[in-house]
Amino acid sequence: AGRRGMRFGSAFAWSPPDADAGSFANPAYAALLQRDCGILVAENQMKWQALRPSADRFDFAQFDAMLDWAEAHHMAMRGHTLLWHKTQYFPRWLNGYDFGATPRREAERVLDTHIRTVCGRYGTRIGSYDVVNETVDEKTGALRDTSLSRAFGGTEPMLDRAFQTARAAAPHAQLVYNDYMSWEPGNEAHRAGVLRLLEGFRKRGVPVDALGVQSHIEPLGEGTPGQMAARQEKPWRAFLDSVTAMGYDLLITEFDVADQQLPTDFATRDRIVAEYAGIYLDILLGYPQLRDVLAWGMCDKYSWLNGFKPRRDGTGTRVTPYDTRFRPKPLRDMIARKLMKA
Ligand code: G3I
Repeated sequence: AGRRGMRFGSAFAWSPPDADAGSFANPAYAALLQRDCGILVAENQMKWQALRPSADRFDFAQFDAMLDWAEAHHMAMRGHTLLWHKTQYFPRWLNGYDFGATPRREAERVLDTHIRTVCGRYGTRIGSYDVVNETVDEKTGALRDTSLSRAFGGTEPMLDRAFQTARAAAPHAQLVYNDYMSWEPGNEAHRAGVLRLLEGFRKRGVPVDALGVQSHIEPLGEGTPGQMAARQEKPWRAFLDSVTAMGYDLLITEFDVADQQLPTDFATRDRIVAEYAGIYLDILLGYPQLRDVLAWGMCDKYSWLNGFKPRRDGTGTRVTPYDTRFRPKPLRDMIARKLMKA
């Protein structure tokens, strides 16, 4: 990837040194990241829940340790995320926050404080931020609301403010809207909602540079990966064409391939995962606007999908480039091959 002016990388985590986790403190995982990655992102440690235990207090210890480690090993880090706009992922204090007699002003203060504090602390050490994450409802395509957006009097003014504040606080940084509107059937309303949001940003002159295409993909339905892809490719390309026509860059920010519905047999499962991924990557890498590809974890042992979409046969997920014993799988080779071609 590096030779082609692109970057490949992954999410990783913080953990105490003795924990078995997808963390830089785990020597086996650290070695894997150092070997394959040029850019990293904290899986959880830059979220409000992690960074801001109360309205007036920040705790940067874990994220600082991650960034120090990444830099010591010559890897860049992205920032994820300055605002995950979903009640479920707000810290409890924010969901119950009293915005007082002038709610809009107080909401601006709470949001601005967050963005300025984080961006101010890291300066040019972070070159790309998921300023806003997942604000479009996947079922309806409408914008979500939360305690914060209600205090703002609407979600749009809150989103605009987040990007404007980020631009002022980190003028060097790429500002990204990040979401999971995928190419599988069932994502139509979600994609339409994201397009409306991106159009709105352009109309209002909001400083948004790129769309983060999370890329939590999943081979579903009848037939071979090629047949599945053939059913999905046209609307997906139309979506990406519309996004890039508006002048947005693209990133793959959270790549993995769910395998909950696939056969038990490892060889078959790994083959389907790799083939499906290869077709998907070919499409995305065909866009010159895409320079960064990040996996959401490099090792099956630590994937979030173990908890979120567990295998019913108890065999564990095989959704990342390396298996539970840190051995490369066909998915790893497929990604490498596609990046070399891009
Ligand atoms: O740290 C606590 C731990 O102290 C506690 O004992 C344990 C008990 O549940 O929870 C731990 O926190 C969990 C955290 O992951 C760290 O493991 C949270 O409950 C759990 O909700 C959290 O899940 C993360 C999720 O985002 C929500 O923040 C996943 O690891 C992470 O992979 C996932 O990542 C998201 C992206 O940010 C946005 N896009 C989708 C992606 C996958 O859902």
